[in-house]
Amino acid sequence: MYINMKNEFLGDIESTADILIPKDPLERVIGHDDILRFVRIAAKQRRNLLLVGPPGIGKSLIAKAISVHLTEVQEEITVVHNPERPERPFVEVKTRKEIEGELKELQRAEGDLVTPQEVPELVAERLGFRCPNCESYTNAYQSICPNCGADKYSHLNARRKHLGDLLGMFEMNSGPVNIPQDRVTTTRMNHGREEVVIYERADGDRVKILDQHALEKRREMVEEKPKNIIVPLKRKSFIQATGASETELLGDVRHDPYGGHPDLGTQPYERVVPGAVHEAHEGVLFIDEIVHIAPLQRYILSAMQDKVFPIVGRNPQSAGSSVKVEDVPCDFIFIGACNIRDLQYILPPLRSRIQGEGYEILMRTFMPDTEENQAKLAQFVAQEIEMDGKIPHATRNAVEIIVEEARKRARIIDDQKDALTLRLRDLGGLVRMAGDLAVMESSELIKDRHINFAVKNAISIEDQILERYQSFEQAMEKDMSSSQKMHSSRKGTPNDHVDRSYL
Ligand SMILES: Nc1ncnc2c1ncn2[C@@H]1O[C@H](COP(=O)(O)OP(=O)(O)OP(=O)(O)O)[C@@H](O)[C@H]1O
Ligand SMILES: [Mg+2]
Repeated sequence: MYINMKNEFLGDIESTADILIPKDPLERVIGHDDILRFVRIAAKQRRNLLLVGPPGIGKSLIAKAISVHLTEVQEEITVVHNPERPERPFVEVKTRKEIEGELKELQRAEGDLVTPQEVPELVAERLGFRCPNCESYTNAYQSICPNCGADKYSHLNARRKHLGDLLGMFEMNSGPVNIPQDRVTTTRMNHGREEVVIYERADGDRVKILDQHALEKRREMVEEKPKNIIVPLKRKSFIQATGASETELLGDVRHDPYGGHPDLGTQPYERVVPGAVHEAHEGVLFIDEIVHIAPLQRYILSAMQDKVFPIVGRNPQSAGSSVKVEDVPCDFIFIGACNIRDLQYILPPLRSRIQGEGYEILMRTFMPDTEENQAKLAQFVAQEIEMDGKIPHATRNAVEIIVEEARKRARIIDDQKDALTLRLRDLGGLVRMAGDLAVMESSELIKDRHINFAVKNAISIEDQILERYQSFEQAMEKDMSSSQKMHSSRKGTPNDHVDRSYL
């Protein structure tokens, strides 16, 4: 029995193994209930979001969770060859419905599947289903008839000699004689017209009938126009484009050493690569630390406005540079993240776009220290353990120490009394360190002593330096190799005059 920490308290669990981890990724986000309301709206109404706050408080977590709440994608984007102007391929958008319709057509072209009893007796014999001796029907791959013990295939060969020509069956197997045929081609009358029909053995107990219609459809499909599916129906609806280059974000046309020569080269339409803006079509485009892609912000803005963005070859040296595909759809939900300091570097029109069609959200860094929130922290610990996959669960006592640490951190980092920190990535690190220790000790659970050890030792490198050297200056002074130190202490030696400009 798993315990839902929404309704219960820390005292109700023995260890984190008892805790129910919600399936909905939004329910796994701890401490941002007020924000989650807007986040749900954004998912339902397809609004943009700007999440502002320090590292490790769940910005990426929320962005990913939204993508799970979107409705199923409906469109597939294909680049199609333009025979008149190959360097201007067309873009084609097909809906799920159209694609499913085509699939049905395709299945029809695959022919009807019937039982061996439904085809002419002689065809069933040829395909190995019917015993020519006792006339019973059995699996085509059983060469000895299980009913009369006759060798179905050798009887068949005897019959074949007499009857094959009479029945107008052609295309005999050219392989070994005593195996059944895979397919029989014959003719039949359809509305007074004679038409070709092919019977194929589908597997051991079915026959596929390909009539004129199916055969024509097959031919058509083989001749279908050349295309390149750049955004398939089956795709991720969460695209993270953090630190993306221009080509990653906007797409590109690959180089072809043969310049797209009709015989030697690869045609332009085949070399078109979508950008993150296109891959995020109907989904979420997430950009962590928007300021890192500063010069690309205006492209994102224009993609958001037009909901289409052309794909062009972006390397002027490449044969792709002459290729352009107009109007490639890119209707995405934009989610940006940054910290407070970087807010000023976001392009004002992009900000105004987000405000106009979405929400700007300042994330909290702590939550009130209530029993409900302590219970949520326990859920957080359970989640981190499950996600990690390599560490055991934690006892209630161990969780209580983590809660105490969360309290301490809210006090030290955020100057808050009676609060619990929401800077949870760091707290997760603590859980993992304690977990590793428990594993090394072959302990079945993470216990208080493991957490206590982690609390003591999960110290940032800055704090470690201060602890050992008292100040950064002193640390720097000692931060050199022994030979460097020797030289610098031997004042006045000729070494001091050596030209070191090459260093
Ligand atoms: N509110 C939260 N609820 C549950 N887990 C959280 C929360 N915040 C952080 N975490 C945990 O910390 C990890 C890091 O969070 P996340 O990647 O979302 O941080 P971020 O805000 O995007 O940080 P950054 O600015 O560094 O990208 C998450 O994978 C999750 O395990
Ligand atoms: Mg992140």
